[in-house]
Amino acid sequence: MSNVQTENSHFTEKIDLRLIHLPEKQKITVLDLCSADGKLWNSISRLTDKKITVIRVEKQSDKKGIYLRGNNLKFIPSLDLHDIDIIDLDSFEIPIRQLDEIWRCHDVRGKIFFVTFIQSIYGGLPIRMLEPLGITKKMYNTIPTLFNNKGWQLFKAYLVLKGIDHVKYYQFSKKYYLTFKVKN
Ligand SMILES: C[S@@+](CC[C@H](N)C(=O)[O-])C[C@H]1O[C@@H](n2cnc3c(N)ncnc32)[C@H](O)[C@@H]1O
Repeated sequence: MSNVQTENSHFTEKIDLRLIHLPEKQKITVLDLCSADGKLWNSISRLTDKKITVIRVEKQSDKKGIYLRGNNLKFIPSLDLHDIDIIDLDSFEIPIRQLDEIWRCHDVRGKIFFVTFIQSIYGGLPIRMLEPLGITKKMYNTIPTLFNNKGWQLFKAYLVLKGIDHVKYYQFSKKYYLTFKVKN
């Protein structure tokens, strides 16, 4: 079995989720923190008459188009998010470090997020998602499956701590494609 990660599994649903939840304004700026070749937002731009500007970040160097190359964690603190309407985190994992860093460095009130939440094949959860919920490393390591089986519920509880109590999503097994808007 191949363990190559597929950049665009469930592409249709990812597009659909974003198209349905675009802001009402005509000109939209997107910060795409896991852009790969930028196919997702290229496709969305073709499917709407809104004018979409995309600022792309991608850690791999062989991708198409113009983007900031490197680990998005390196860029998050210094990016100016003032004019950004949408933050897209279409990662291969659970982008808790990115979410924590965005909240730590920026005022994200009113912004729309699109996030891909994928539990790894072994189902492990990042301890930094659990600790704010009162689950210590020791508790987690004692009986990880107890927590791993509740990964999505725990992620939603983590978001509640950030003031997000309402998410819309598509689910395919342990993959969740979600969106939320941060309250003003
Ligand atoms: C699922 S793909 C994204 C597909 C993309 N949305 C598109 O339109 O084709 C995930 C991408 O995120 C990139 N990535 C993962 N972690 C990253 C990080 N910490 N910083 C920057 N890029 C990252 C990967 O290299 C990969 O290209």
